[in-house]
Amino acid sequence: MQDFSQRLTQVAAATQSTLEALLDDSPRHGEIARPDRLMRAMRHAALGGGKRLRPFLLVESARLFGREDPGVLRAAAALECLHCYSLAHDDLPAMDDDALRRGQPTVHVAFDEATAILAGDALLTYAFDILADPLTDADPALRAELTLELARAAGPGGMAGGQMFDLQNEGKALDEPEIRRLQSMKTGALIRFAAWAGARMAGAEETELGRITRFGEIIGLAFQLADDLLDVEGDAATLGKAAGKDADRGKATLVALKGVDWTRATLRDLVDEADGLLADFGSRADILRQAARFVAERAS
Ligand code: IPE
Ligand code: IPE
Ligand code: MG
Ligand code: MG
Ligand code: MG
Repeated sequence: MQDFSQRLTQVAAATQSTLEALLDDSPRHGEIARPDRLMRAMRHAALGGGKRLRPFLLVESARLFGREDPGVLRAAAALECLHCYSLAHDDLPAMDDDALRRGQPTVHVAFDEATAILAGDALLTYAFDILADPLTDADPALRAELTLELARAAGPGGMAGGQMFDLQNEGKALDEPEIRRLQSMKTGALIRFAAWAGARMAGAEETELGRITRFGEIIGLAFQLADDLLDVEGDAATLGKAAGKDADRGKATLVALKGVDWTRATLRDLVDEADGLLADFGSRADILRQAARFVAERAS
């Protein structure tokens, strides 16, 4: 059985080189010029570390169904561009107002706010550019489907909508279903997309596609629960970002509502549920099984 952390490192390195090539300075067909400052800010947001968990899930979900090629890596890089945009904007003074991300100054601190906004805009747009490019897949219908699903995951009813709920409810007492909905939007939707997109690109049949997509939903929830737990229990040196911010800002989290012990127990239940969804895949799904455990037990 291949070791999970070895595999995560491999996929992170492949994602990094794919992103480096995509974020170079030369204008592509139809582009006029790539401003140096914008490109540097985009590279700062996208190339400086990160666990690369979403690309990993997309790549491993595709591999589970037998597809492993540069097109899959491009889709994974597109998703990571979108994620990095969401982080650059999440850190802005008008949102969470954070100065540290991935152990480095956040984009608006390293550059300025306007540049961070534009770098985020450009990474978001570029994600769809990458997906729509025939280099990602020869089939135009599949490219359109990936584009539509990512738009749905990232847009008003997905990540951006979840960020709205998150900000709107600072200092408010949401109940458990409301917090779960917020979290499945702001974080869960992109993680669900990762699991779905890999399997879809590999041509998984409907039942298996549904199972893997549900797996993505479950670990998406677990991912944000763990993030909220780490905000309470972690430290900036390990996390590469400030800790203790959620309580300061009165964020509506399940850790705040239900406590640390409940959150840990719920994380264990989610890992069991994720395991159950993978049962029919046997040892082929060992890496994804370990991924679920990693999401719940990670230290950063
Ligand atoms: C942080 O995401 C933002 C959340 C959705 C909780 P990650 O924890 O995946 O951040 P990186 O990409 O590893 O830096
Ligand atoms: C961020 O959630 C979710 C998105 C960026 C969409 P958080 O605000 O909890 O993420 P961190 O803790 O800043 O990484
Ligand atoms: Mg936030
Ligand atoms: Mg934040
Ligand atoms: Mg957080």
